[in-house]
Amino acid sequence: MAKRLCIKTYGCQMNVYDSGRMADLLAPLGYAAVDDAAEADLVILNTCHIREKAAEKVYSDVGRLRDLRLEREARGEGSITIAVAGCTAQAEGAEIMRRAPAVDLVVGPQAYHRLPELIARAHRTKGEALDTDFPVDSKFDGLPAQTRVEGSAAFLTIQEGCDKFCTFCVVPYTRGAEASRPAAAVLAEARHLASLGAREITLLGQNVNAYGAGEGWSLGRLVRALAEIPGLERIRYTTSHPRDMDDELIEAHAQVPALMPFLHLPVQSGADRILDAMNRRHTADDYRRVIERLRKARPDIALSSDFIVGFPGESEAEFQATVDLVAEIGFAQAYSFKYSPRPGTPASMMADCLPDDVKSERLARLQAAIAKGQRQFNEACVGRVLPVLFDRPGRHPGQAVGRSPYMQGVHADLPAELMGRIVDVAITSAHPNSLGGRLVGATEAAA
Ligand code: SAH
Ligand code: SF4
Ligand code: F3S
Repeated sequence: MAKRLCIKTYGCQMNVYDSGRMADLLAPLGYAAVDDAAEADLVILNTCHIREKAAEKVYSDVGRLRDLRLEREARGEGSITIAVAGCTAQAEGAEIMRRAPAVDLVVGPQAYHRLPELIARAHRTKGEALDTDFPVDSKFDGLPAQTRVEGSAAFLTIQEGCDKFCTFCVVPYTRGAEASRPAAAVLAEARHLASLGAREITLLGQNVNAYGAGEGWSLGRLVRALAEIPGLERIRYTTSHPRDMDDELIEAHAQVPALMPFLHLPVQSGADRILDAMNRRHTADDYRRVIERLRKARPDIALSSDFIVGFPGESEAEFQATVDLVAEIGFAQAYSFKYSPRPGTPASMMADCLPDDVKSERLARLQAAIAKGQRQFNEACVGRVLPVLFDRPGRHPGQAVGRSPYMQGVHADLPAELMGRIVDVAITSAHPNSLGGRLVGATEAAA
């Protein structure tokens, strides 16, 4: 009998990629994907541990699934297997099993290739299906190839784990040490994705620009090799660390047209004392210099960042340095978070925790500064013609939404046959989070 699988994905794009690979792994075993957990036989919660709120979500989700399961069983319609995957599974697998007995199996991010075996084991004996090892056999070798690409854009994980140990961050503990996939495997997967219709590939890694797979492979060299693949028109990569922006990668921004002029490069804070306490191992000026080099290589490059406000001991003046940096750099977009102490991290042991209302107030001020920069960036695009990769339907009939090179959402009326293609769009309007426009060139002639 066909089985139904529902995967709920939280956290970053690496989890999105992993969820896709888990679905591909389970499809040959008869699991068809469904959106509604109430209709599923197997539900996988692919969790995130980065902030407390994200990590706690798993317990409320499991509670809801347990109720659904009881209703299903009462109707005599079978049961629901509940699996917890992702970074919270890795960080507190045993605790999840204890606190949430409804959970049937727990699987860490490095053990997904063992899912079929774990599911079978969970069905036989409850309470033994926990796998949070970092196995030596790479999960990538044990996962089947992707079967489809949605909307002409695909993610490709090339690196996992992190050796940076920023004092606030759980990732080095949940994803383990930095490890890069061999270039040959990455190139083969990229060719496969292109053959499935991917025109854009985003290379993923917790620290993607630390990519290095021996024999002189760096991210810059990998980008050049990927740009040779027929059909692949756009390359992006995320997330990068300022310390790993080497010359080869910056040069690729100058020389490889397929490498999109957009970079998410988190800086976290504009104050050197805080950067030091965060163990970022760069100053605000180091960051400015990286941006300068990037802009020299690719003058139209758009920038994005992550910020943490309310790190232990952050003074008003130090916070203001962050706001000033935002105004100075001019980010096309950025994410900002209230500092959240995470178990086991050095920062969680630091004194001088700030009260939540101070964090909230700072977050609001920073977000206003970020929104202002984003509005200015979007407004400056009005009147330009931008190539847009259209990948999903818009809100109104006949309308589609796509991405500009700078990662802005762009909506325009689009003939159905151009879905999944890159089309020139004259930008006519700017909104806080998106742009509007109309098609130009070849398409007008065809109309
Ligand atoms: N590897 C990436 C991002 C990792 S997590 C990097 O080095 O930048 C994504 C973002 O979450 C981080 O950039 C940081 O801004 C935020 N973050 C991580 N830990 C956090 C914590 N304990 N509290 C609040 N925000 C956090
Ligand atoms: Fe976390 Fe820092 Fe590593 Fe990014 S570089 S994943 S913030 S430890
Ligand atoms: Fe969250 Fe893990 Fe990604 S903690 S941000 S899902 S690497």
